[in-house]
Amino acid sequence: MSKTATHALPGDLTPRQRLERAIRVDHAGELGAVRIYAGQLALMETGPAKDKVRKMAEQEAHHLETFEALMTERRVRPTVLAPVWHVAGWALGAATAAMGEKAAMACTVAVEDVIDEHYQGQAKQLEGTEPELCATIEEFRVEEVEHKQMALNAGAEEAPGYLLMRLGIGAGSRMAIWLSERV
Ligand SMILES: [Fe+2]
Ligand SMILES: [Fe+2]
Repeated sequence: MSKTATHALPGDLTPRQRLERAIRVDHAGELGAVRIYAGQLALMETGPAKDKVRKMAEQEAHHLETFEALMTERRVRPTVLAPVWHVAGWALGAATAAMGEKAAMACTVAVEDVIDEHYQGQAKQLEGTEPELCATIEEFRVEEVEHKQMALNAGAEEAPGYLLMRLGIGAGSRMAIWLSERV
């Protein structure tokens, strides 16, 4: 696809629309992540797994704050679905933590896998027009991949129903991304 506006086809997004979509969906995703970990932390017992979740949660809080600041700075409104992600994220976190520590980790693998792919695609779209945002996204993407690795090291793949969870949570995450870009 052409990167320059001069070759834009009718129906293509303008750079401004692309920026709005990116900030809106990334804010939604980071909100979801913060809420997933809040739900997990509420149910997990003290121990090394909980410490790992807490560390990931702290980074997610920083990601969310960054996109909140970008929304104000670039005048982008949040998705209308933010209240849904607020509740659904927590519920997903709590449900997976209730299934056990490895299931909680499997949830992270499923989500971060989708986010990694999503951030990669976005970085490619924005590198020409928004180099600064692109660098932020790349920085966060590296941390998301670290979260995924941390969860794999903690035995995510040994969770009962691991493949099913990956499929289900992955599909849900993709749907949440699709919706948050549009509304
Ligand atoms: Fe994040
Ligand atoms: Fe993450």
